[in-house]
Amino acid sequence: MQPKILTAIPGPKTKAAIARGRFDMQATYRTLIVDDIASHGTYLVDLDGNTFLDLFANFALGSLGYNHPNLVAAAQGATFVHASVNPTSTPFVTTPAWLDFMDALEARYAPRGMSKVFCVDAGGEGVESALKAAFIVHGEARRESRGEPRDPLSLSTDEQDGILANLGSDAVLVSFGGGFHGRGLGPLSATHSKAIHKADLPCFDWPHVSFPAKLFPEERYAEENAARERSSLDELEQTLDRYAGRVAAIIVEPLQSEGGDRHANPSFFVRVQQLAHQAQAALIFDEVQTGMGSSGTLWAHEQFSLPSPPDLMTFGKKMQMGGFFATPAYDIQQFGRMFQTRNGDRARAVLGQTILQTIDDDRLLDNVRRTGAYFLQRLREFEQANPSLVSQARGWGLMLAFDLPTTEARNDFVARCLRQGVFATYTGTRSVRLRPHLITGTVQVDQAMVVFERVIREIA
Ligand SMILES: Cc1ncc(COP(=O)(O)O)c(C=O)c1O
Repeated sequence: MQPKILTAIPGPKTKAAIARGRFDMQATYRTLIVDDIASHGTYLVDLDGNTFLDLFANFALGSLGYNHPNLVAAAQGATFVHASVNPTSTPFVTTPAWLDFMDALEARYAPRGMSKVFCVDAGGEGVESALKAAFIVHGEARRESRGEPRDPLSLSTDEQDGILANLGSDAVLVSFGGGFHGRGLGPLSATHSKAIHKADLPCFDWPHVSFPAKLFPEERYAEENAARERSSLDELEQTLDRYAGRVAAIIVEPLQSEGGDRHANPSFFVRVQQLAHQAQAALIFDEVQTGMGSSGTLWAHEQFSLPSPPDLMTFGKKMQMGGFFATPAYDIQQFGRMFQTRNGDRARAVLGQTILQTIDDDRLLDNVRRTGAYFLQRLREFEQANPSLVSQARGWGLMLAFDLPTTEARNDFVARCLRQGVFATYTGTRSVRLRPHLITGTVQVDQAMVVFERVIREIA
């Protein structure tokens, strides 16, 4: 297949469909109406029969492309059908298929050293839950260090009344400027990518420090990048000192995705972990966007060669559910502290497990590394050929981006690409963001580059 545009975008049928469904508060942003029976592999087909090469993958939700036979077969199987129609409160009641999923995570897919998982419905909820785990363990340790009971149920009636009356904790979470961790009222206080996400909402008064945000090409900016890393780590160290004893956790994305596809070196993360240990704070990697293979390893942080596992790691998107993996210290057992009615959608688990199995069976991590390296090389050549328009070509596996001079130029570029059959997206103020499905190959990269080169000539 290849991109094929038959009508104006949006075409007449798509336009008519977009005009419908206005009851949906989210209808305003709708770009395409998909024919999800005709869509196939990395190609999205719309209602007018236009075929787009999909480098957007629904904000990195997509993994195996459209209508992958393994997923279709799984969804038609009895396990999926019955899990869908018989939802359970999985902490209380479950089926052997869920236990198989747990066994598979434990044996093959959990990051090294992480011995527990907690499952919710979406990425942001996974972050919210991981933050709770970090604050709970921190609170217990603080009580213990004061000679008080670890277990809150052993506190006096007055103290428990105080808890019920919102006598919160003064513990803090440290995050990074430009970070994105979701839109719930907890994670939002660690999210710093766009003011509109937070305007008018109450936030926790938690500190954040700058993120290195390396410049590219790295050969040209080696000194500047080293200075950025040092300065960010200095800020972190000072902040940990300032809040000594009160820092429950540090949360960081291995690559800041929503904040503009901003990268940092492994050495940065190794030092962040050291500082977290010194401060007795949990280190949380938010892998909602970077996880499940996009980096070329199942979990992106695995490439940092950290001396020990992070304390908590969140997932979402491609896993088909949200949640976090945890080291043994963050295994919260008192009933009711960490609980949601569903805590593990068994139908989504069937799909998540099928995706993980297919990543293994089809050696998709090799494909991500191979295709990602080729895509990055093509983007670098694209940058060199168009130095006044294209800059900062960067990539890690199949998480790729480049910049245009202004927000308007970037938006124009993305809109023109869509009209010519390539669905790319945006991040930060002027970056084009690419999040292809894990099955994307060099043929698709060549198809994308034909369109990118044509569009850049149009706007030059
Ligand atoms: C790093 C990160 N964390 C959390 C989230 C929130 O995930 P969701 O919107 O699925 O709740 C996102 C979403 O883009 C993300 O990129």
